[in-house]
Parts: sequence; structure tokens; C-alpha cells
Amino acid sequence: MRLLVLVLSALLVSIAAAAAQAPLQKRGEELLRARCAACHAIGRSGESPRRGAPAFHVLMQRYPPQSLEEALAEGLVTGHRDMPEFVFPPADIAAIVAYLETLRGRR
Ligand code: HEC
Repeated sequence: MRLLVLVLSALLVSIAAAAAQAPLQKRGEELLRARCAACHAIGRSGESPRRGAPAFHVLMQRYPPQSLEEALAEGLVTGHRDMPEFVFPPADIAAIVAYLETLRGRR
């Protein structure tokens, strides 16, 4: 009986954690849609609207999402003049990274 209670509460905790995660990912997706989707494909599949801009699902096979964390905080600059420089506050970065995690390894 005691064990059952333990198992049930562990289950509830993990369900709650998953539920708390979802809005964060959703927010990350919205941020990317607003700021990046004009050039990059931000979904699990598809081509970028801008030629030469790597699709995020492709990028995430190459780099772990955490590798973008620092870049997003300090201003993302690439050698490419086409791409504007972005600086995101930490809360936004957490959301973006949470969303990018969902793109990994699902192709
Ligand atoms: C105006 C178009 C445009 C927008 C908006 C844009 N990008 Fe890019 N991005 C590009 C292009 C073009 C490249 C390819 C750059 C190159 O090859 O030098 C690129 C490359 C990248 C790369 C790859 C860098 C590397 O070293 O391989 C990352 C990561 C990236 N963008 C992230 C983002 C994020 C995150 C956003 C939104 C916050 C964003 N981009 C918004 C055009 C854009």
C-alpha cells in the first residue's frame, strides 16, 4: 500500500513536470516564429523560406540546443550580413532551448 502511494505520487510529479514544460516550449516556438521564421524553417521538418538559412531541425541534428544558449544571450551573429543580430533575455532563451530540444532526434 505504501509502495503504491509512492508510485502514484512519483507519477503525479512527472505528469506535473511535463505539463509545466509544455507552455515553455510553446513560448519558445512563438518567439522563434516571430523572430526567425521569416528566414528559417522552425518546425520539425520543411525547408527554410530563405535560401541558405539552415532549417532549425537540421541545425539541431548538428548542434545541441544548449550550444545556442550562449549565442542567444550574447547576440547571435553569423558571418552572414543577411541575418540580424539578436539578443534575448534569459527567460526567453530557456523557452527557446526547451522548444529546440523537441526538434532533436525526431526525424
Ligand atoms: C533575415 C533572415 C534571417 C533571420 C530573421 C534569422 N536568420 Fe539565422 N541565418 C540566416 C542566414 C541567411 C543564415 C546562414 C548564414 C551563413 O551561412 O553564414 C543563418 C544562420 C543561422 C544559424 C547557423 C549559424 C552557424 O554557425 O551555422 C543559426 C544558429 C541561426 N541562423 C539562428 C537564428 C535564430 C535563432 C534566429 C531568430 C532569433 C534567426 N537565425 C533569424 C538568416 C536569418
